[in-house]
Amino acid sequence: MKSVFRDDILEGKVAFVTGGGSGICKGIAEAFLAHGAKGVTILGRKADRLSAAADEMKQKSGRDVLAAPCDVRKPEQIEAALEATLERFGRIDIVVNGAAGNFLAPAAALSYNGFKTVMEIDTIGTFNVCRASFEKYLRDHGGHILNVSATLHYAATPLQIHASAAKAGVDSITRTLALEWGPLGIQVNGIAPGPIDGTEGMSRLAPGEMRDAQIKGIPLRRLGTIEDVASCALYLTSGAASYVNGETIVVDGGAWLPGMGKFMTMLGVD
Ligand code: COA
Repeated sequence: MKSVFRDDILEGKVAFVTGGGSGICKGIAEAFLAHGAKGVTILGRKADRLSAAADEMKQKSGRDVLAAPCDVRKPEQIEAALEATLERFGRIDIVVNGAAGNFLAPAAALSYNGFKTVMEIDTIGTFNVCRASFEKYLRDHGGHILNVSATLHYAATPLQIHASAAKAGVDSITRTLALEWGPLGIQVNGIAPGPIDGTEGMSRLAPGEMRDAQIKGIPLRRLGTIEDVASCALYLTSGAASYVNGETIVVDGGAWLPGMGKFMTMLGVD
């Protein structure tokens, strides 16, 4: 799909994208490169997948991509990746927190460590990356932070107590940092994607026939695409959203809106 944005809106910018080796955040990193970014660092735990993604992205965009293996639960690894980014590109304008973990598990059967692990990756990992990038660069130069969240916690989502709690924490981080760091020229916003086609999240959380059942509950009657989410990331970082701060934009076709399913069933609408 052709982008509606001019291809130079991020000219010369550099992005640091956790979870950028696959799925939604790879799509966001690619969109940044396709819209003028001079370089992107992608971070993830799986070094092989990361370097394959970096090679593919370099080839596609003709721009520079640094693969930085990193576990966001480890601040020293984040700091090393930030230093490598600054050495390679000389600046960091956009930080995207996309590294996350999730799976389906009933609360009563979820192990203590299972809950803790997702909190550590999603919530604490997001804080760690925000804090380290603030210290290393953003405090003195301003920039954008984008936290990838979810809508799980707006109402209540069964089988995902871990991810719901973790993303509620992420949204809170977004708002607090927008307040504390706005005066320094740092905009902190979030994106809350709904069901996005072709992602690990979809195959983990809505496998098989659940996929079609899920589409019926989405007002726009389709799954989202990675490009739908990347467009929102471009909007938030391009300057078009220069007065938006502390906001988490839902990109889900209306899927989370309460009452949709029940009301349509009452009306007999399929
Ligand atoms: N159901 C229930 N518990 C699970 C689970 C599942 N499907 N997957 C992992 N866990 C539990 C483990 O049993 C373990 O707890 P235990 O020590 O009490 O047994 C705990 O979670 C940690 O698992 P581990 O595999 O050691 O952690 P990890 O750091 O290697 O992996 C995860 C983190 C669990 C989030 C893993 O699923 C992951 O790496 N996901 C990344 C990708 C992803 O989730 N993408 C989708 C985003 S929507």
